Amino acid sequence: MSVFKRKDINLIFKEAEKQELKRTLGAANLTALGIGAIIGAGLFVRTAAAAAEASGPAVTISFLVAALGCAFAGLCYAEFAAMIPIAGSAYAYSYVTMGELVAWIIGWALIMEYALGAATVAIAWSEYLNNLLGGAIPYEWCHSPFESLHRVTAENLTSITSFKPEWAAMVKNGELLLTDDQYSMLPQQLIGMVSTTTGFINLPALVILLLLTLVLIKGTQESAMVNAIIVFVKVVIVLMFIVVGWQFINPDNQVPYFIPQGTPGHDSVFKYGWGGVLGGAAIVFFAFIGFDAVSTAAQEAKNPKRDMPIGILGSLVICTILYVLFGHVLTGVANWQEFKTTGKEASVAYAIQNYMHGYQWLATSVTVAILAGFSSVILVMLLGQSRVFYSMSHDGLMPKAFSDLHPKFKTPYKANMVLFVFVGAFAAFVPGSVAGDLTSFGTLFAFVLVSAGVWIMRKKFPTIDRPFKTPFVPLVPILGVLVCSGMIIALDIETLKVALGWMVFGLIVYFLYGKRHSKLNNPKT
Ligand code: ALA
Repeated sequence: MSVFKRKDINLIFKEAEKQELKRTLGAANLTALGIGAIIGAGLFVRTAAAAAEASGPAVTISFLVAALGCAFAGLCYAEFAAMIPIAGSAYAYSYVTMGELVAWIIGWALIMEYALGAATVAIAWSEYLNNLLGGAIPYEWCHSPFESLHRVTAENLTSITSFKPEWAAMVKNGELLLTDDQYSMLPQQLIGMVSTTTGFINLPALVILLLLTLVLIKGTQESAMVNAIIVFVKVVIVLMFIVVGWQFINPDNQVPYFIPQGTPGHDSVFKYGWGGVLGGAAIVFFAFIGFDAVSTAAQEAKNPKRDMPIGILGSLVICTILYVLFGHVLTGVANWQEFKTTGKEASVAYAIQNYMHGYQWLATSVTVAILAGFSSVILVMLLGQSRVFYSMSHDGLMPKAFSDLHPKFKTPYKANMVLFVFVGAFAAFVPGSVAGDLTSFGTLFAFVLVSAGVWIMRKKFPTIDRPFKTPFVPLVPILGVLVCSGMIIALDIETLKVALGWMVFGLIVYFLYGKRHSKLNNPKT
């Protein structure tokens, strides 16, 4: 019984033929799935953050750099997905190329990308919904028990701001809201002047997860249709912002295009100048996460050999073009310096309200696009995760229930339900800030292994039919490994520690459960 035992490639081909999941997705559906997972918080929130903190108007170049990093991995995914049209993506590819243990590790890392990714975006969805409703949802019902709101009302403002005069600038509508850190600075005699509300459950996040889970259980084709509608809405609104905003570009905002190093606020290599362009690329990388999810649905593609590369690379190219144009318009309409202080989170609405007079409706539409964008990101992440579980369960590494298909809908409904409980518990009871960068870690880790896997596969099985070939092997896989490893190293140390803890936990589960139940290691069971 070896943990490095590899799954026989011919077995994979047999599994792909013995089709259980329905093949319903065409090239357009697959490209839309990619766009569905890609355009979300990354574009709407991180563009302004990258411009303000790192690259200025050259955020457009940051997008191109991040896209190039993704393209190396994307080309490798395309070769695998066309060659091995089976659910499970990076997990399934690693099982053939690097053996069971590595496959398990990558399956475990993908939980960080897809399940935690879905939870994080569901929490952000809840926040935006509440903004759109003008804060109508009571705080307790849209926050986790680990979050608190500290409110100072008008009659106590003077006492509190005379303790910390700089807080006066934070007063809005006669009210001051303090973070946990700020609250903990208050001396005993002032604490009584602050009313504290603690979160109970993030109900909107739970509701959106439930709705999307039901859509997924109903059918992959139905999910693809819901996704296509959402993608249409968000792409139209992004295009409208680009077209209308173009007329409001003030060229002075983009001079100089590259912010010279030494500009005030510069305190690291990755701020401004070419270093800033790279720092910006790391920030906007999140905006590209999701194109790989297309490959998890390979077993549901009508013609995977042709359509997988189209779906993966097509969605990446379309989003890159939209992102560059969007970044150009955003930093042309408002000055990137403004995003340091004002409107960083709601940057697009800020730019429209302040500089595109007469287009208030567009600011509201952007919020709708953001909600729509978040919904499709959650949908495709949940789809991807259930397909990874399906594949792992098929191999005996996860309980059998995860690969049971619904008798009528032919979807892995039990996997979807368990996932709802897991992701839902996370979204309902854990603060959003915890999971953000872990999503990037899981994704980059998978990118590294898929890039390496393509090269290994070429060496081990040079003659297998490859409907799509990654160009310039081994250069492209090597660059994929290097660029993505570099981005992992650039993640903050806390993220890396939590990720390491998760992986160690995964290894324990593997040796206690996975290894003992694996079909490959226990042929008779
Ligand atoms: N790319 C996805 C987003 O930006 C994860 O929300």
